[in-house]
Amino acid sequence: MENKRAINWNNIADQIDKATWEKLTEQFWLDTRIPVSNDLHDWAELSSKEQWLVGHIFGGLTMLDTVQSEDGMAALSKDVRTQHERAVLNNIQFMESVHAKSYSTIFSTLNTIPEIDEIFNWSDTNQLLQNKAQWIIDIYHNDPDPLHKKVANVFLETCLFYSGFYTPLYYAGNNKLNNVAEIIKLILRDESVHGTYIGYKFQLGNKELTENGQQKQRDWLYNFLYKLYENEEKYAALLYDQVGWTDEVMTFVRYNANKALMNLGEEPLFPETADDVNPIVINGISTTTVNHDFFSQVGNGYLMGKVEAMQDNDYTIGLDNSYDSLSDKSRKFKKSENKILGSDDKGKFTIAKESGAVEMEDPTLKSKKDNK
Ligand SMILES: [Fe+2]
Ligand SMILES: [Fe+2]
Repeated sequence: MENKRAINWNNIADQIDKATWEKLTEQFWLDTRIPVSNDLHDWAELSSKEQWLVGHIFGGLTMLDTVQSEDGMAALSKDVRTQHERAVLNNIQFMESVHAKSYSTIFSTLNTIPEIDEIFNWSDTNQLLQNKAQWIIDIYHNDPDPLHKKVANVFLETCLFYSGFYTPLYYAGNNKLNNVAEIIKLILRDESVHGTYIGYKFQLGNKELTENGQQKQRDWLYNFLYKLYENEEKYAALLYDQVGWTDEVMTFVRYNANKALMNLGEEPLFPETADDVNPIVINGISTTTVNHDFFSQVGNGYLMGKVEAMQDNDYTIGLDNSYDSLSDKSRKFKKSENKILGSDDKGKFTIAKESGAVEMEDPTLKSKKDNK
């Protein structure tokens, strides 16, 4: 049996692994920190058709994130090039679970329990949604070509999500459901890194193939994209025909399909560019934060806690009785100054005494006396 190797982050074979790890950990977030209930007023003003659309769009997105968290990352983990890549995939896997859970946070705020049950029953049985999930899962589990798994992953990450993302982005562009949209934008920000990273790993593997091997990959991936695209047309019609948005949703899907192909290092297939996408949605997609709650620090501008180096006095709170070498008298010090003195702290003692923080004998002298 080969020796197990401990992961060494001081010896990085591929700097993209490290950069991606840093990016993903920097943008960590949790659904529970977004105040979705602030959207209840907007929600109440939507027509019942629009409410149905939002609920079922999110049912579909829950399915895709479930596939990623339960099947996708585990499958990709089998074919990593570096240990650091696996660490990145572990991060992605956890965040896919956060994504999948986020929609439930939205449901529990906006929908009734019977509505939630109906949405999940729909997503577990709708044939068009099941097609997407099953085709991708089949590749994850049964396709022996590791590059095919990466292609399936990128198509899901960078293309299939977007028929669903369209709805919250459209509302955000109209200044509605802003907190729901904030969750979606955080998910979208993650998916964008995921798709780029896995696409990059595909390109590394693809470059190692012969010209003929690369052509085979190209034929396979364009064929698979057509298959997914045909299904996506029907899926979009099923959801969006009732509100009349199907055409513009498919424009957005084609724009993102091109982006998925570019992640894989391939040429765009469709003529659509960002200029063709509904400007309201482009407005909604902008990564500036719409929501900054001071206490929960949420939003696309999500702030991490600031880190500073520990100081001696960080250890003094509640430690009045520590430092055995000090006399009882010496332990008395003004809490407002937050100083504590050890036996070798002569310099600090002088400063503390001059500032009025302590009014005791010099503990360093005392300890010398004790030692005699
Ligand atoms: Fe996700
Ligand atoms: Fe993802």
